[in-house]
Amino acid sequence: MSLLTILEYPDPRLRIKATPLVPADFTPALQQQIDAMFETMYQAPGIGLAATQVDYHKQLIVMDVSEEKDQPWVLINPTYEALEPTQELLQEGCLSVPEYYADIERYLRIKVTSLDRHGNPQEFECDGLLAHCVQHECDHLKGIVFVDYLSRLKQDRLRKKYLKLQRA
Ligand code: NI
Repeated sequence: MSLLTILEYPDPRLRIKATPLVPADFTPALQQQIDAMFETMYQAPGIGLAATQVDYHKQLIVMDVSEEKDQPWVLINPTYEALEPTQELLQEGCLSVPEYYADIERYLRIKVTSLDRHGNPQEFECDGLLAHCVQHECDHLKGIVFVDYLSRLKQDRLRKKYLKLQRA
């Protein structure tokens, strides 16, 4: 299976808002897309990948935050709500912003509602790294990249740095 190309910041395609999947979208081709996204994420390596990052603008996320990389998790049409107002800072990175990390504040505990890879409803509560990952990946589906939370100055520097790297 061939790996998918990951869009890199500040590619404007990272700003496209993903549309929900409908029942007719659950085809063998979708299963292949999901498998290709997992392979791309594991190879990178990363703990989460949103469809937006591979220029596929549907509400689809793959994740695996386990140490052993044996807990693949698919979220389709995901939404979440905070279970408490508490937020925490955690260092985040992103496959679309290579080798850059920043502390980002996210809800500590959330409840996630989505479909699984076969279109069955699933709901779960999570906290810590998994909760951060879900919020980070859901942002991608809305066209938001984690560096958007940084100061304008830092964003300008990053944009210039990555454009220069991409030209090189
Ligand atoms: Ni990301």
